[in-house]
Amino acid sequence: MGVDPGFWRGRRVLLTGHTGFKGAWLALWLQSLGARVTGLANGVPTQPSLYELARVADGMDSVEGDVRDAALVAAALGRARPEVVIHMAAQSLVRRSLEQPRETYETNVIGTVNVLDAARVNGDGVRAIVVVTSDKCYENREWEWGYREDEPMGGHDPYSSSKGAAELVTAAYRRSFFSAPDGPRVASARAGNVIGGGDFSADRLLPDLMRAALAGEAMRVRNPSSIRPWQHVLNPLGGYLVLAQALWGSPEHARAWNFGPPEQDARTVHWLVQRAGALWPGGVRCTLDDGLHPPEARQLKLDSSRARARLGWEPVVGLEEGIEQTVRWYLGLKEGADMHTLTLDQVACARPTPARA
Ligand SMILES: NC(=O)c1ccc[n+]([C@@H]2O[C@H](COP(=O)([O-])OP(=O)(O)OC[C@H]3O[C@@H](n4cnc5c(N)ncnc54)[C@H](O)[C@@H]3O)[C@@H](O)[C@H]2O)c1
Repeated sequence: MGVDPGFWRGRRVLLTGHTGFKGAWLALWLQSLGARVTGLANGVPTQPSLYELARVADGMDSVEGDVRDAALVAAALGRARPEVVIHMAAQSLVRRSLEQPRETYETNVIGTVNVLDAARVNGDGVRAIVVVTSDKCYENREWEWGYREDEPMGGHDPYSSSKGAAELVTAAYRRSFFSAPDGPRVASARAGNVIGGGDFSADRLLPDLMRAALAGEAMRVRNPSSIRPWQHVLNPLGGYLVLAQALWGSPEHARAWNFGPPEQDARTVHWLVQRAGALWPGGVRCTLDDGLHPPEARQLKLDSSRARARLGWEPVVGLEEGIEQTVRWYLGLKEGADMHTLTLDQVACARPTPARA
């Protein structure tokens, strides 16, 4: 089973966080499938942004507001009358969570409560809810093998633990309020370290590298030997779409799911920087940043066997191809390409071809 255009055509979707990096990709993908998308976000998080460069707003309805505001979230749900809710809005940066822990917990935990509660109180017609958390939700034990969905939640820093807490909130709402077979079906999705064009967030590896490339400056790389399960943004997004389809079909899918890359795509920071830098014309100079930084987990892998076996989910963009597409996106920006068209062309690559289907 892959993403089914027939399922999404005309489908009413409420997507929170649609102005962010992943949200803008998903909003465009949903638009290209013919879905009727309403977004909810508190403005545009970066300048520049994929959302603005790719003119994502043109194909959807947008509500500007804060997920911490319960009444506003309820009103947005009432206005969108969604059949599917995909909740992505979050304070998504570990470093900022260390500076703004309260804001991070309020946005990521209470924001999740507000979305689920709006669906509990006024969710007539809502059939599938996907809550997007992170691979960082797990209690990280620096294992060499991948975490499975039933392993304990945890998180050392406020961002990671806010995602673990959002998972616990989601599970409690599912058990307490969403167990009726004809009511909303609630699942959570855990993925991490996505790469792709259009990410302008601070303190993320490829955005830092591409910023340095565009400015013709050297990039300072920290923690070069840390291992992360890198994957192209369209892979987990495809997972969220397939998961919503599966939830629609059966309540048995109302649970937590990992969407991580294959084992061999867990690579070091150094490897990724080298690979992507080499694709930029003239290369990108890198220096080691050995200053003091908040501790980060050295190992983090996900076991996605369940999503592969029970949802039929497969990553559709391989890591090398994903790195190439990412660099091509920023090169397109530098060369003045139409970023709406370029981004949609990359979305089209994620559609299953006969060979992949
Ligand atoms: N990008 C990654 O590598 C990655 C990895 C793991 C998990 N995630 C998760 O995926 C989701 C999307 O990530 P992203 O990279 O697109 O993040 P992002 O920071 O680019 O975008 C966040 C979105 O949430 C919105 N938002 C933030 N605070 C809000 C608030 N208080 N009220 C309303 N909207 C608010 C922003 O406006 C934006 O639309 C997040 O839940 C994030 O935690 C991302």
